[in-house]
Amino acid sequence: MRYRIAAIVISLSALLGAIASNAGADETTDTRQPVQRTDAEKAFVLDQMRLFLTSIAEIEEGLGSGDLDLVAREAAARGRKANAALARPATLAAKESDAWKSMIGSVRNGFDQITEQATTRAPAAKINKTLADTMRNCVACHQTYRISAEAR
Ligand code: HEC
Repeated sequence: MRYRIAAIVISLSALLGAIASNAGADETTDTRQPVQRTDAEKAFVLDQMRLFLTSIAEIEEGLGSGDLDLVAREAAARGRKANAALARPATLAAKESDAWKSMIGSVRNGFDQITEQATTRAPAAKINKTLADTMRNCVACHQTYRISAEAR
């Protein structure tokens, strides 16, 4: 009898353990595709990312306060035109997938479109919609990729 109870206790705790570790795995499993970048490449990419976020905050500030010059200035700074000659790590382009290039390209074009709309004084709601469409590329890429360290 004592052995039966011990067996039940052991199988119960094994079951609870399995449930607990499964729950943990659900929370932490990262299914994003790792892309290998050196420290310098990663620093460059993340710096650009932070500039995107900073400019979006200012664009929203401009849309909310009716300062479309601010919107145009911030959007232009992140657009394709202003960044065509941006100095990038030389090794980066060859590592970027077509999907990566396409999503970044759509982001840059989106900012140029926002610049155009702000300059021609389009309604704030319309500019906000363009920003939302642009940001779907941020979301899509973030769901797809993560940066992993590449030895150098
Ligand atoms: C082509 C892919 C791609 C696009 C498009 C993209 N990102 Fe990212 N972003 C990444 C990756 C990859 C990381 C690093 C994620 C990781 O390694 O966990 C990142 C990280 C970031 C970070 C964190 C920066 C840091 O210092 O850690 C911010 C903020 C960010 N992105 C903002 C944006 C915004 C805003 C947009 C759109 C305007 C955007 N990103 C568009 C791929 C992208």
